Amino acid sequence: MNSNPSSLKIKRYDLSDDKSLKAFSAADELILECSSELSSEDKSLGIYNDRFGYLSCHLAELNPLTVYTKKSQLNAITSNCKTNGLDFENYCDPLSPLANKVDLALLKVPKSLALFELHLQHISENSAKNVQVVIGFMTRHFSPKMIEIAGKYFETVEQSRAIKKARTATLSGKKKIEKVNLLDSLEFNNDIYQQYWGIFSAKHIDYATQYFLKHLKVDSEDQNILDLASGNGVIAKEILKKLPQSTFHLVDDSYLAVESAKLNISGENVHHYFENSLSNFKKHAFDLIVSNPPFHFEHEINIQIPIQLFKECFRCLKPGGSLQIVSNNHLNYSNQLKTIFPKVEIIAQNENFVVIKCVK
Ligand SMILES: C[S@@+](CC[C@H](N)C(=O)[O-])C[C@H]1O[C@@H](n2cnc3c(N)ncnc32)[C@H](O)[C@@H]1O
Repeated sequence: MNSNPSSLKIKRYDLSDDKSLKAFSAADELILECSSELSSEDKSLGIYNDRFGYLSCHLAELNPLTVYTKKSQLNAITSNCKTNGLDFENYCDPLSPLANKVDLALLKVPKSLALFELHLQHISENSAKNVQVVIGFMTRHFSPKMIEIAGKYFETVEQSRAIKKARTATLSGKKKIEKVNLLDSLEFNNDIYQQYWGIFSAKHIDYATQYFLKHLKVDSEDQNILDLASGNGVIAKEILKKLPQSTFHLVDDSYLAVESAKLNISGENVHHYFENSLSNFKKHAFDLIVSNPPFHFEHEINIQIPIQLFKECFRCLKPGGSLQIVSNNHLNYSNQLKTIFPKVEIIAQNENFVVIKCVK
């Protein structure tokens, strides 16, 4: 086990080149430290929410199973393993059973506590009776709800003292839990949407999205349509009602979002992709691209990622095709978009949101 944190180089490998953003935090370092006391070669190890691969790389020699939720995460872990000369390919999605029951699970607590609980469910179903779980978080992100959720699955939840503003808790004494339905459902415009715990906007369709759906402009000439950052698929589904003959492509970085969208919109003319970029699409592939683009990434706000995606949209649009987005007013995307597209216009705006149309 390479538990010497300074000997490996871990990079973010995301679409952003902001050098001030780190690929791991004190919480990851503390989880690693804690795991060195608990892990051993004969224990089966599971790793959850390892965003850029800090834990998977440092513990690669123990042959862990890494449960991913994002394509960007898979890409980062694979790249970090490769650049550090590590041979590691044990991945599992968060809904499938693990190949082996784990004795020790390491979990960096995600921002979404619904996703935290989905992971605890998974651990509960895929672990040995006496499994131990080490969860880690920055103290500023602590919520008593974390302990409450952990207590639903484990008898004992023992918190460490804080080191470098991070803390861990060790969970043990697995409780017997009934298998639960991991889907929320919500109603919008006479349709019932299903979505896995932890994906964007759990209780209702996002208000920016609702505003977008009132104002975006579609045309019967829009044959090939991309819903970029598609979440549960609501934008594509609403356009499909107006343009049933068109072909729809839905792309999202989140595995659980893609699996949710598959439950909500399907058909021969509907295609789903678990991707965090448009690099697999050809130049001039689309007539129309629609998006409520991401700018929150766990506890960070980063508009470099949507801007990089807008550049890819330009490449993938046909000449004359349009990108239409909704955003919060304060993000001020118009100026950035004007450096990419020849024509950028605001087609609707209220006190919170703006809908922007860019023509190639
Ligand atoms: C603001 S939500 C919009 C979801 C959905 N379209 C809606 O309106 O409810 C943004 C979505 O972007 C996804 N996302 C984040 N980074 C991405 C990337 N690089 N490529 C594609 N999707 C991404 C997130 O998983 C999330 O589902």
